[in-house]
Amino acid sequence: MNKSCRAIACFWLMSFLNLSVAEPMSPKLTPYFYRTTCPDVFTIVRREVLNAINEEIRMAASLLRLHFHDCFVNGCDASILLDGDEDIEKFATPNINSARGFEVIDRIKSSVESSCSGVVSCADILAIVARDSVHLSGGPFWYVQLGRRDGLVSNKTLANNAIPSPFDSLDTIISKFDNVGLSVKDVVTLSGAHTIGRARCTFFSNRLFNFSGTQEPDNSLEYEMLTELQNLCPQDGDGNTTTVLDPYSFDQFDNNYFKNLLNGKGLLSSDQILFSSDEETTSTTKQLVQYYSENERIFFMEFAYAMIKMGNINPLIGSEGEIRKSCRVINS
Ligand code: HEM
Ligand SMILES: *[C@@H]1O[C@H](CO)[C@@H](O)[C@H](O)[C@H]1NC(C)=O
Ligand SMILES: *[C@@H]1O[C@H](CO)[C@@H](O)[C@H](O)[C@H]1NC(C)=O
Ligand SMILES: *[C@@H]1O[C@H](CO)[C@@H](O)[C@H](O)[C@H]1NC(C)=O
Repeated sequence: MNKSCRAIACFWLMSFLNLSVAEPMSPKLTPYFYRTTCPDVFTIVRREVLNAINEEIRMAASLLRLHFHDCFVNGCDASILLDGDEDIEKFATPNINSARGFEVIDRIKSSVESSCSGVVSCADILAIVARDSVHLSGGPFWYVQLGRRDGLVSNKTLANNAIPSPFDSLDTIISKFDNVGLSVKDVVTLSGAHTIGRARCTFFSNRLFNFSGTQEPDNSLEYEMLTELQNLCPQDGDGNTTTVLDPYSFDQFDNNYFKNLLNGKGLLSSDQILFSSDEETTSTTKQLVQYYSENERIFFMEFAYAMIKMGNINPLIGSEGEIRKSCRVINS
């Protein structure tokens, strides 16, 4: 790209970025929601998240993902936390043997309950936990919007349809984000969450030997990483081996995820297509990947806004839903 093109791209990105500043604020939720009813909620949650991360550092990633998988299905209503028969979200394809951290949420909920009983929703706990997980991993801080109430249903079919799959095309992923009011830019920004955490072979082994029936590996995957992953995930393996999403700084929340994409080192197909696919939309996402790879500060700021925006998806408020006593079951 020549110099003047760069300046235009930068101007275009900046105006794109400025637009988002007012966007994520919801008139329904407020950071002060528990100021009088549960003033210690932030201290309690942060302490428990810190304990959980000290016990297992990956937990930060697992907890962040729970908020995402909650918000995309029936809004941010803690529906992912409900136990039940086989039709619940926990058994949906993106969650089964994959979503984790439920015991940590139980522990946090009971600590919060012992300080202010029946006041703080499980949905709000997930939102605060996601923020603390990012911040304690070295990422940005933001003021969490609060006042969500807990839903009464958990729907496996809905989870299967709404949560993006790592095998989806970029256009499909974009339309799944669009379904919940999130933009193409949010796809790129929020995918930056894959700067922490792990994934199982089953979610990327399709890229390693016979990609889309070509009898060849995915040619957008860098060669050395390909060889390592082929050894890690043999074709006759059970798909349960895990590896890190961001090979060089896996437990640190930073912008290395985007640098990896420039070098063909995105782990999931859904990561690498943001930079490498020949879909038309990739020309948009690619520039943003490039931009974040060069500007961690802007990535952090935009990630915080996008998380607030994601946290605003279809909340239950007022007298809708309920405040669950246990995050795993509805009250009656
Ligand atoms: C853009 C579409 C997305 C797709 C297709 C996707 C897919 C996946 C997959 C397949 C895994 C590995 C799960 C496993 O092996 O058990 C994963 C892990 C993860 N995802 Fe995403 N994801 C997407 C967006 C997001 C977003 C928006 C967030 C949060 C804001 C997020 C946060 C995470 C985290 C933190 C992990 C690691 C979890 C852990 O180590 O327990 N992802 N994702
Ligand atoms: C779950 O969602 C699907 C798809 O929207 C809908 O057809 C079905 O009735 C829902 N099931 C329950 C139990 O609410
Ligand atoms: C590769 O995948 C295609 C389509 O999925 C399949 O028809 C073919 O048999 C596979 N080749 C090998 C060598 O496994
Ligand atoms: C992966 O592990 C889970 C238990 O964690 C097990 O239920 C599942 O069957 C395993 N998957 C395969 C393909 O073996």
